[in-house]
Amino acid sequence: MNKTYYLTTPIYYPSDNLHIGHTYTTVAADSIKRFKKLQGYDVFFTTGSDEHGQKIQEKAKENNMSPQSYVDKIVADIKELWKMLEIDYDSFIRSTDPLHEKAVADIFTKLYEKGEIYKDEYEGAYCTPCESFWSESQLVDGHKCPDCGRETHLEKEEAYFFKLSKYRDKLIQLYEDNPEFIQPESRKNEMINNFLKEGLEDLSVSRSSFDWGVKVQFDPKHVVYVWIDALSCYITSLGYGSDDESNFNKFWPADVHLVGKEIVRFHTIIWPAILMALELPLPKKVFGHGWILFEDDKMSKSKGNVIYPEPIIELYGIDAFKYFLLREFSFGQDGSFSREKFLQRLNSDLANDLGNLVSRTVSMVEKYNNGVIAPSTKEDDLYDPSLKNQAVEVAIKVEEYMDKLNFSNALEEIWKLIRRTNKYVDETMPWVLAKDGDTKRLDTVLYNLSETLRIVSILIKPFMDKTSTEIRKQLGVTEELLWDDAKTFGLLKEGTKVSKGGIIFPRLDISLELDRLNESNNKLIEKRSKSKESIKVVEEKVEEKIEEVEELITIDDFLKVKFKVAKIIDCQPHPKADKLLVLTLKVGEEERTVVSGIKEYYKPEDLVGKKVIVVANLKPVKLRGVESKGMILAAEDNEGNLTLLTTLEEIADGATIS
Ligand code: MSP
Repeated sequence: MNKTYYLTTPIYYPSDNLHIGHTYTTVAADSIKRFKKLQGYDVFFTTGSDEHGQKIQEKAKENNMSPQSYVDKIVADIKELWKMLEIDYDSFIRSTDPLHEKAVADIFTKLYEKGEIYKDEYEGAYCTPCESFWSESQLVDGHKCPDCGRETHLEKEEAYFFKLSKYRDKLIQLYEDNPEFIQPESRKNEMINNFLKEGLEDLSVSRSSFDWGVKVQFDPKHVVYVWIDALSCYITSLGYGSDDESNFNKFWPADVHLVGKEIVRFHTIIWPAILMALELPLPKKVFGHGWILFEDDKMSKSKGNVIYPEPIIELYGIDAFKYFLLREFSFGQDGSFSREKFLQRLNSDLANDLGNLVSRTVSMVEKYNNGVIAPSTKEDDLYDPSLKNQAVEVAIKVEEYMDKLNFSNALEEIWKLIRRTNKYVDETMPWVLAKDGDTKRLDTVLYNLSETLRIVSILIKPFMDKTSTEIRKQLGVTEELLWDDAKTFGLLKEGTKVSKGGIIFPRLDISLELDRLNESNNKLIEKRSKSKESIKVVEEKVEEKIEEVEELITIDDFLKVKFKVAKIIDCQPHPKADKLLVLTLKVGEEERTVVSGIKEYYKPEDLVGKKVIVVANLKPVKLRGVESKGMILAAEDNEGNLTLLTTLEEIADGATIS
């Protein structure tokens, strides 16, 4: 069986549209997933949205909207963005997903029942944007939040507390036993010196001052602290706490949680402590990456310096954008974004280095060899050994750098090879060989160039999928792409027919492009503010309508009913009743009997093998002496036509319905 690999990004606050800083983590995670897949791992990648909490509730109110519709629109944009960027995630968990909410409420109850959570009163300095209480010793300048630097205010409330203090020594032990647990190393020291050294205080894990959150089951005026809610998504996205925990059993513990530096504390102190309390295995690594700043300043809407990814992607494509993010910034450290830097890299690394190599190689094969890659003599000339040796060593170096999540150096190694290969063209001068009629040497040089490009097409695959495919298309390579094939020189088949395509990265006029980028970013900002306005109007109308309708149920009411898909494996007439059928249902692993009044509509033999929907948690009843465990659903119209409900597509019995 394949080895498994589980990685996550944070789940993002849909308080506003995501900017390139958020995109950074997701693009990084995506490249790790693609890289691990190429190495033969069975990978699971979770991302999502963190939708509860006071901040979102307030933001929605500011916009005169309900929290749910406020987040729905932004979450749709987030998903659209990931689609645009072809992010290959396996689960997009929304913290408002009913299954997640149910699991979080259960986790809270479980911790309470185990004595890990207790009720008390809390008064302290509270930071609303970070949704955190801080102790006096943690505050900066006496009253400012140590995470975001903003003003805190005094708040008092009855709250539930998690016994975080008792985990201090265990956490220190965890870091000692697993030196790789917190990366980079400097973040580990920060955690020890700033938080653990002094001793930990118990953590308040419920709020009663607002209600946009998961209700505490046994005390519903409290909602679960947003961080417990959010962190749990890493396991609920694998089905933890649901009827199907197969992914959880297969993929947990996570191999790596990728997080920004300001939330390392939540992931390396609170999260492992919660997992310890739940007696669950701990993640293997938390990587705290740096921030992308805008020209050395923090991006913020009020400063008007927020860079959205969509305009960049629309104008220059996803590969240029992904390449830039991963190459330009050192993952562990802060870095500064500027549009000039982006355009300069596009020109130098993508147009001049890679684009040029592809186009001159394919053009020369067309011009000098009628588009066919001729065999190499395999006789090395002065410049050949160094090119070949370098080409086959890059994959190993990329593996080493990717293990450390050092994307920038991994890409730099690949670009060193690309630049070396361009130099090889200048050194060997194929046009002179052609003029001199030195066909054998010319064939060898063109083979070496094309073969190096084949290797490059493998190496860039995790980072620039489209470009990799385009290069292979132009080279005429049709074999399946295997990572290890980047470690051998000479696999390109002679006789391969190249076909020149368009220029993969054209050179750009920087000043012209700067204007286009600015304009496009501004248009997007305008479009978004208009679309928020129109949602507000629709929502006000919907609210008026809802008030007219009586007896609405809440989602909690609905969630009490467990619907499942069931397969009818046997069906007989009821021995003592004219109108009843006795059905044997297979619901996942379980078989159960259900009695249903549908005899006048269906023949028993027509039903066997069909899938239906069953209410699985109905109290059993005896119907004319036969015990019925559940009820199957049917629809009936005014004329008395009746049909059983089933699913639109084929799905396994036992599947849950929500
Ligand atoms: N919802 C929490 C995370 C819960 S995870 C269980 C959260 N959301 S966030 O939307 O504010 O931030 C999500 C991630 O985006 C964080 O890792 C944060 O560091 C990252 N970034 C936000 N701005 C960023 C930059 N300018 N640069 C790089 N990453 C940035 O925190």
